[in-house]
Amino acid sequence: MRFDIISVLPGLLDSPFAHSILQRAQKKGIAEIHVHNLRDFSSNKHKNVDDYPYGGGSGMVMSIEPFAACIEKLQAERQYDEVVFMTPDGETLNQTMANQLSLGKNVIILCGHYKGIDQRIRDLYVTKEISIGDYVLSGGELPAAVLVDSIVRLIPGVLSDETSALSDSFQGELLDAPVYTRPAEWRGIRVPEILLSGDQAKINNWRHEKALERTMKRRPDLLE
Ligand code: ADE
Repeated sequence: MRFDIISVLPGLLDSPFAHSILQRAQKKGIAEIHVHNLRDFSSNKHKNVDDYPYGGGSGMVMSIEPFAACIEKLQAERQYDEVVFMTPDGETLNQTMANQLSLGKNVIILCGHYKGIDQRIRDLYVTKEISIGDYVLSGGELPAAVLVDSIVRLIPGVLSDETSALSDSFQGELLDAPVYTRPAEWRGIRVPEILLSGDQAKINNWRHEKALERTMKRRPDLLE
């Protein structure tokens, strides 16, 4: 799967994709992540990518032309399943959306800044608007990294134990049960005996009960 991320601060995305699972996915050739500097697509001699809002008001608005030039260049090279705009007023990201997007092949992701982007970019090019939650960040780069991470780990072959993405919280409708590792006792606090019993059926049962308990307490909406 290929991701083309368009950003005015590409340096912000140097690190999130250079470690662990996302790095491995790229080394294996399962995911390709390309970050494009929006300023490279500005025809303005100062490489401006924003301008004053029509109608007045505070803050700058990202201009249509650099985004249009970058998106059209990419679309001339290959077909894209989606053009995503990261924005706090988009649809809130959830596991179902990540699952659906992981079935695609090529995705463009636009990162906004300042007061937002010219509405015509959204109307003409964007096919999906995604928020990562009800809070406002300084730009769309960190949300884009969150989105890419949530998708890439679902692509078959990315996780070494393929069942582990399937057993994540939210992949079923329950949150995860608590987990423990060695030592079996630490400062007098023991790991639940059942996990040491070796009786897999009982352990599975216990995990299901604990998952249910945790979900009822923390996210009863998931059970409705
Ligand atoms: N840009 C700024 N805040 C955001 C959010 N919460 N989700 C997606 N993009 C954003």
